[in-house]
Amino acid sequence: MEHTFAMIKPDAFENADEICKIIEGADFKIAEKESLTLTPAKAKSFYGEHKDRAFFSGLIEFITSGTIVAMVLEKENAVVDWRSLLGPTNSKQAEEEAPDSIRARYGTDVQKNAAHGSDSPSAAEREIKFFFPEFDLTETHRTS
Ligand code: CMP
Repeated sequence: MEHTFAMIKPDAFENADEICKIIEGADFKIAEKESLTLTPAKAKSFYGEHKDRAFFSGLIEFITSGTIVAMVLEKENAVVDWRSLLGPTNSKQAEEEAPDSIRARYGTDVQKNAAHGSDSPSAAEREIKFFFPEFDLTETHRTS
């Protein structure tokens, strides 16, 4: 069983319950879930790999602008399947290419794109530990 990290961003927080229903309907188990507001320091650390990109300061401002929902999702092929449910990073592109995807339905553009997903199993491990340091990645949490 694989785990991935998911985050519902401030622009989609009002739709968080609906998005969680979509996630569970796609056979993911939500093993952990916490709503919080990121501090700028924590946001910069989480998105550290993008620190030299032109969009970095805008990203930090956006991601700290409201409540986020941090989650651990569990499923076979969780990393790839969650990225597929999300759709392309840019919500405008998602509207064209994957109109049923979460980013098409709940996001706006390349920054305000509703939700995040780890891009590899190693990123998933790092991101899960970042938000849920006690989480046991070896355990299966689903009951069915
Ligand atoms: P996410 O999947 O969380 O990973 C990095 C985030 O940076 C991305 O979603 C977007 O919110 C944001 N981002 C990526 N590319 C750009 C861009 N070109 N301009 C503005 N924001 C971006």
